[in-house]
Amino acid sequence: MQRLTDISALQAWRQDAKGTVGFVPTMGALHRGHLTLVEAALANNDQVVVSIFVNPTQFDQASDLAHYPNTLAQDLQQLADVGVTAVLLPNQETMYPDDYRYQVAENELSRLYCGAHRAGHFDGVLSVVMKLFNLVQPTRAYFGEKDFQQLTLIQGMVQAFFLPIEIVPCPVVRESDGLAMSSRNLRLSPIERKIAPQLYATLTADTSLADKRQRLADLGFDLDYLEVYQDRLLVAAKLGEIRLIDNVPFLAGAGA
Ligand code: PAF
Repeated sequence: MQRLTDISALQAWRQDAKGTVGFVPTMGALHRGHLTLVEAALANNDQVVVSIFVNPTQFDQASDLAHYPNTLAQDLQQLADVGVTAVLLPNQETMYPDDYRYQVAENELSRLYCGAHRAGHFDGVLSVVMKLFNLVQPTRAYFGEKDFQQLTLIQGMVQAFFLPIEIVPCPVVRESDGLAMSSRNLRLSPIERKIAPQLYATLTADTSLADKRQRLADLGFDLDYLEVYQDRLLVAAKLGEIRLIDNVPFLAGAGA
């Protein structure tokens, strides 16, 4: 597995890469959810690139960025073990030579749901993903449905800017108790970790949206939103300091 830290090394690698290139952008602290994306990319492409970059521009809280888990040695081992061709490990100066003067923004969906609670979050996501796409020039890029709003915005960006990239959505991967896998789960206290699966249990319970909101509040979740968007029920809530998101398919008219 090649480790690419600077742009010229990546560009040289890309020029020599033969066949299709699958790309999995990540912020590291890899878990089984990420590995599912990598496996899907490996199954359908000649080469697979994974990026690990904790993107500062998508964090609205400095403390969230400062505490984002870092398990780099373990991440690299896992990626090498499954047969990833190259890993891109840029730093902030490499990714933002413009000091973030230039940005990609969407001004409808990105302002709702998570965007309404995390100022500038999706501008940061779209900007870094556009930069990564331009650098890696993948045939296909893989994103988890866990962040359904992010996935929808990236699909929209690819269409809006005529990017010749196929976006491949991958289903949410859950722990055996239903908790959606997330790098942030590592930061839950033992008590919070016991309560956290109730987020999914409540989403899927046969109750009204109002009941679900009340139930989550009673369990100690500080709810940002629980709303239907397209055919999904989306939720974001804080448990202590940790913000969790999840979503499930939602049939129109069910439990409203
Ligand atoms: O989903 C993530 O991990 C990040 O938002 C992404 C897509 C890697 C951009 O930094």
